[in-house]
Order: sequence, then C-alpha cells, then structure tokens
Amino acid sequence: MSSLQAPTSVLDGASAPLLFDLIANDLYRDGYSVHTNAIPIELAALLAAEVRLLPVNDFKKAGIGRDQQHRLKPLVRGDHISWINGNTLVTQAWLAWAASLQMALNQRLLLGLFSFESHFAHYAIGDVYTRHQDAFKGETNRVLSLVTYLNPDWNEADGGQLVLYPKNLNQSGLQVSPCLATLVVFLSEEIPHEVLAALGDRYSIAGWFRVNNAPII
Ligand code: OGA
Ligand code: MN
Repeated sequence: MSSLQAPTSVLDGASAPLLFDLIANDLYRDGYSVHTNAIPIELAALLAAEVRLLPVNDFKKAGIGRDQQHRLKPLVRGDHISWINGNTLVTQAWLAWAASLQMALNQRLLLGLFSFESHFAHYAIGDVYTRHQDAFKGETNRVLSLVTYLNPDWNEADGGQLVLYPKNLNQSGLQVSPCLATLVVFLSEEIPHEVLAALGDRYSIAGWFRVNNAPII
C-alpha cells in the first residue's frame, strides 16, 4: 500500500474551522478581525498571479456611492476594480473559500449572511481611498466587509496600509500592511477605515457579505 496521503487540492475550497472561530470571537468582541496568513497560501499565490494577468481593460475606475449618486472622485478614491464572477478555477476557489467563511460565521454569530460580492482592486503608486465607511445604518444591506491582500514581499516601508478606526482604539487607529494572504474582516456599518498611499502597485480583493432585505410576502 502506498504511504502517500491522498492529494488535496487548494481549489477544493478548504475550510479552516480554527481560524473561523478566531474571526467570530474577534467580531463579537471588537467588530473587526485581522489575521496574517489567513487565506490558504497556495490560493493566495494563485489569486496574486491571476490579478496581475488580467487585461488592463478589465479594470474600471472605482467610484463612490451607488446608482445615481455614483461619482468618480480620484482624490477620494484612486483604485481600479474588476468584479469577480468566478469564471476561472482560481476565482471559483476564492468564492468557495468565502462561502465557507460565510457559513461558519452564520453558524457562530447567527448573522444571516445571504450573499457575497467581491472585486479585485489595483491601487497604483500614490492612490488612496480616504476615510470612509462601507455602509450606513439602514441604507444598504452590506453587513460584513472583507479585504485580503495579494502582494508577496511587501514591506512596512512600501506603505499602502489599511487603517481601521474602531471605537475601542485611540484616534491613530490600527494599521494593517497589505501582505499576501492577510485577511481583514469588519462590520461594514461600524468601522471607518482608509487606504494610505503606497510606493508600489498594491493589489487586493475587497468583498461584502449582505443580508437579504427582500420584503416577505
Ligand atoms: C474598500 C476598501 C480597503 C483596502 O474597497 O472599500 O476599504 O485595504 N478597501 O483595500
Ligand atoms: Mn471600504
């Protein structure tokens, strides 16, 4: 009999129960959760390769606000985005991983998360996203925000930190470097945050879990 283990694929949407416990506890206590090396490293590396191969035309200038209020304000938000629709094996694996997080958080926190949307984002040198919130009470059904980073070999000195401003911290906030496989999850209505300028190209995925606001008939 072979002594080899059955092969497991990173494209299977492997789940991580311990990590999901930690995230649930952080969210319950603080409203945010930050973990380095949280995304399976092979999956993060594949996503990092894929985002760099996307045709430039797939990236659209990101705006702020929805529908008629949608505005392009490069001084407020400089990134370009490409929505993830799962048309490749790697992005399918990403969506499967996000679905496993969604299910785990629903089980642990009864959040009723119903759907997930995410996009790749590219911040070129100097691009920022000034302090903002992803949702305002009663205005959207975005409940939980998620960001993960696709930058191998990122150094503190490269800048591009995400800064979270939770109520329980002092005004200087919590800085997170956009290193490959770091995951940030936070309550969309609760945590103001901003993206600082970087010295190099900065790639990320930003995503949102929504609840279902459809009227019951
Ligand atoms: C966003 C956002 C943070 C980041 O897209 O809304 O806040 O670190 N992104 O890329
Ligand atoms: Mn945001």
